[in-house]
Amino acid sequence: MFPARRMRRLRRTAKIRSMVRETVLTKNDLIYPIFVDETIEERVEIASMPAQYRLPLSEVRDEALEVVSLGIPAVILFGIPEHKDEVGSSAYSSEGVVQRAVREIKDEVGDDLVVITDVCLCEYTSHGHCGVVKEGEVLNDPTLELLAKEAVSHAEAGADIVAPSDMMDGRVAKIREALDDSGYESVAIMSYAAKYASAFYGPFREAAKSAPAFGDRRSYQMDPANANEALREVYLDIQEGADMVMVKPALAYLDIVAKVKERFRMPTAAYNVSGEYAMVKAASQAGYVDEKSLVLEVLTSIKRAGADMILTYHAKEVATWLERGE
Ligand code: PBG
Repeated sequence: MFPARRMRRLRRTAKIRSMVRETVLTKNDLIYPIFVDETIEERVEIASMPAQYRLPLSEVRDEALEVVSLGIPAVILFGIPEHKDEVGSSAYSSEGVVQRAVREIKDEVGDDLVVITDVCLCEYTSHGHCGVVKEGEVLNDPTLELLAKEAVSHAEAGADIVAPSDMMDGRVAKIREALDDSGYESVAIMSYAAKYASAFYGPFREAAKSAPAFGDRRSYQMDPANANEALREVYLDIQEGADMVMVKPALAYLDIVAKVKERFRMPTAAYNVSGEYAMVKAASQAGYVDEKSLVLEVLTSIKRAGADMILTYHAKEVATWLERGE
C-alpha cells in the first residue's frame, strides 16, 4: 500500500520502462496485404487508403523485394481480375491474377517471403458475393467445391499458406482435404475464423472492387454483437484442420482476440482492416493525431490482446520505424 507501494518508480526513465514492458512489437508480427490488379499497367493509389496501391503484375517482383528488404516476413495477396462471372471462374484458373502473382513472387524471393493467398470469390464474381448465388441466396455447399479448387490452384502456384475469408460452413475441412488429395499436405491454412460483417471493410471493397451488387454479407459473416459464437466458429475451424486462426476486424474486436487466444492457444492473427487504416490516415492527415504514435499504440494493443500476427496496411511504415529503433 501507498506509500510503500509506488507504481511510478518503474515508469521513471525510458530504460526502466523498457525493462518492464510486457508487449514488444516486432517485424515478425507483421503481414502486409497486397492488391494485384490485372486490369492496369501502372500502380494506382487507392483513394480511401492513402499510400496503398493496386499493383499491376509487372510490379509484384519489386514489391516483394521491397517487403523482404524491410524485414517483413509475409504478405497476403488479393486479386482484381480482368474477367468476372457468376461463379468467379478467374478465382481458380491457373492463369488467374493471384496465381500469376504468386509464381512471380516465389520465383523472385523464394522462401525469403511467406506468401499467403486470400481464398474467396467476391473479387471474382459479377455479383460480388463470396459464394455461388441462386435466387438471391448465397449457397453454402456448392461454394465449397469452388473454394477448394481456388485453394489448390494457389498451392500449385506456390502459396505457402491459404487463407479462406468467405465464411462458408465447412470450407476449412473441404480445403484441407483437397490440398492433401493434390499432394499439398504441407501448405498451411490460416482461416478467417471469426470474421464479422463489418462496416470497416468499406475501403477494401473499393480497392478490390468487391462490394456486393445486392444485399450485404450478413447471411455469412458474423453479427458484431456476438462473442460466444466467435468461439464456436474458431473451435470448428480448428477441428476442421486450420493451422492458424484469425479474428477480423481487430480494433473493435480486441475482446474476441483475447478470448480466442486464451481459449485455444492457437497461432492467432488479427486483421487491422482497411477502415481502421483509413481512419488513422484521415485523422493524421488532418493533423488531429500523431500518426506514428497512434499506429504503434494500435498495433501494440492488438498484440497485447493476444494476436501473434497482425495483418496491417501500416506494415511497411512500421518496419521502417522499428528498424530505426523509433
Ligand atoms: C474478402 C475479404 C474482405 C476483406 C478481406 N478479405 C472483404 C469483405 O469481406 O467484404 C477485408 C479486408 C479489409 O477491409 O482490409 N471476402
